[in-house]
Amino acid sequence: MRTRITELLGIEHPIVQGGMHFVGLAELAAAVSNAGGLGIITALTQPTPELLAREIARCREMTGRPFGVNLTFLPAFAEPPYAEYIQAIIEGGVSIVETAGRNPQAHLPALKAAGIKVIHKCTSVRHALKAEAIGCDAVSVDGFECGGHPGEDDVPNFILLPRAAEELKVPFIASGGMADGRSLVAALALGADGINMGTRFMATREAPIHDNVKRAIVAASELDTRLIMRSLRNTERVLKNAGVERLLETERAKGDGLTIADIFEQVAGIYPRVMREGEVDAGAWSCGMVAGLIHDVPPVKDLIDRIMREADGIIRQRLSGMSRGAMA
Ligand SMILES: Cc1cc2nc3c(=O)[nH]c(=O)nc-3n(C[C@H](O)[C@H](O)[C@H](O)COP(=O)(O)O)c2cc1C
Repeated sequence: MRTRITELLGIEHPIVQGGMHFVGLAELAAAVSNAGGLGIITALTQPTPELLAREIARCREMTGRPFGVNLTFLPAFAEPPYAEYIQAIIEGGVSIVETAGRNPQAHLPALKAAGIKVIHKCTSVRHALKAEAIGCDAVSVDGFECGGHPGEDDVPNFILLPRAAEELKVPFIASGGMADGRSLVAALALGADGINMGTRFMATREAPIHDNVKRAIVAASELDTRLIMRSLRNTERVLKNAGVERLLETERAKGDGLTIADIFEQVAGIYPRVMREGEVDAGAWSCGMVAGLIHDVPPVKDLIDRIMREADGIIRQRLSGMSRGAMA
């Protein structure tokens, strides 16, 4: 399939794997890129820029195809050395960066000077327009249903994507709630040029995370996510579990007086315990409502081939069979 995104990124299928903390390691990124999508390594999962350089080199050994690096500018307890991470990305010869969180403007000159294509991931039309105005090559638009940080506007993709299409000139990728060929065709119909998936790629054979996490996603329904940190305006959609119930209890007890210090223990340091050790009830970890559409743990290539086959079938048979000409 050819879209503005496949052309821009030099990939076969318009499917991107979003950056994911403690999930976006070389194994998953390489598997997605080898299957014709765009795999993305998550920079800040690597504790130092040197280790990111090593992860990029490891990924390059596993794939000859383009892959990207995610650079997340979230409110952090200690500001990471972003300029040094960017240096590792440039020296590693990476040609695509997914930025997320705060405005990436301060770092764009270094990335653009190195010829890197920048996709900024955001959750509102106004932030998408800002990203376009400051020179990002594309944007990923994350709807309210997404795993991770959906922002504070609560606009789901059935509204957000066509609104983005009305306003943007640069290509954009639909993110949040994407799982299969139906999602891809729907996203294209709403004006997007491709899809970005997070949660769906966690439940794949190559995702370098504990099987307990994959099993928890397959077992979850679309009703099983919770929103945390709303009153801190740092909302995160996570899978409900015993640790999250405790955290929400603290949030309810503290009300508007909640500070990050009140829940620090329940959110900091959870990812390695969940993703490596399989302690899925340890605390908050991101997961999208799309869990309700995930019923298996296939190899990445099978998943991507299935999405493309299903999308093709929907376009050629279901939709063209319904169009007026075909009915006549
Ligand atoms: C476990 C997990 C960790 C994530 N970590 C990050 C991250 O570090 N940086 C980021 O920009 N997005 C992160 N995301 C968001 C994804 O890149 C993607 O935008 C989101 O998952 C899309 O929604 P979906 O899960 O419905 O596909 C994370 C998502 C998940 C599920």
